[in-house]
Amino acid sequence: MSQEYYYMDGNYVPSQEAMIPVRTHAFLYGTSVFEGIRGYYNQEEDQVYAFRMKEHFERLHNSCKIMHMDPKHSVEEYVKITKELLAKNNYHEDCYIRPEVYKSAIKIGPSLLDNPDSVLIFTIKLGNYFGDDRMLNVCVSNWHRLEDNTIPPRAKVSGAYANTALMITDAKLAGFDDCISISASGHVAEGSAMNFFIVEGNTLVTTQTTSNILVGVTRNTIIEIAKEELGMEVAEREIDRTELYTADEAFFCGTGAQVAPIGTIDHRTIGDGKVGVKTAQIQKLYYDIVRGKVEKYKKWCTPIYE
Ligand SMILES: Cc1ncc(COP(=O)(O)O)c(C=O)c1O
Repeated sequence: MSQEYYYMDGNYVPSQEAMIPVRTHAFLYGTSVFEGIRGYYNQEEDQVYAFRMKEHFERLHNSCKIMHMDPKHSVEEYVKITKELLAKNNYHEDCYIRPEVYKSAIKIGPSLLDNPDSVLIFTIKLGNYFGDDRMLNVCVSNWHRLEDNTIPPRAKVSGAYANTALMITDAKLAGFDDCISISASGHVAEGSAMNFFIVEGNTLVTTQTTSNILVGVTRNTIIEIAKEELGMEVAEREIDRTELYTADEAFFCGTGAQVAPIGTIDHRTIGDGKVGVKTAQIQKLYYDIVRGKVEKYKKWCTPIYE
């Protein structure tokens, strides 16, 4: 296997040497913010396209702001560094990029003050999140989604993923593939680590940005292409639990999950139990766009190799 490099505070470090001290604040208190970005291999062009890096790094900046962190680099600098790192790692297959800004003080006590920030970016080869293309069987989690005034879901904070970990672990122990989260208010929030859509006729419905969700780059992409390319209506609003059961179609979306059709929710079959027509159209379009195959949306795809 060829040597992989990670970016650490200004240096490209061989992956086996990329270490952080055990007393690092981010490790002890979950005080890091991060992004997950996909790089897609386009075989015909022998090119890797990183998808919507700008939007991911803008969200990283927002997460930093919420968490009193200094992102250290502008959005443009992050794009440049990530391009350099991916080119160095020389992947010719699908991959995943994980930038982290983390509190790196060696100290006890959770305060974010007097606590320096560090930047780490690592990359790995990555295929499908769910392993295969089968329809998902999901449940509604009985763990509540975090609220904006607890650990704000709008910021992608590592500590908040303890909430996600409890949800997904208990869903899997109960025999489901994944789950949908509900806020304390009783309304649907999102998936465990992805956003969520239902389809009602020609309308795509998803929870609004104030529903305790991470405002997903994939979510925003799907809203835009569904309106522009498929002529669909899009409603961003509160969703009740029982609306899930009666939806025509349902799917998860996210950088990891991509577009993942849902077959059942809490043992109720969604639609006729097959991948819905709209979901299939969105999925096809999305997979073409991310691999740089749709000219109009190539603006979202950064080529790694010149
Ligand atoms: C909690 C949560 N919601 C939604 C998403 C989807 O966001 P994006 O489409 O930007 O990857 C993620 C992705 O990691 C997530 O962790």
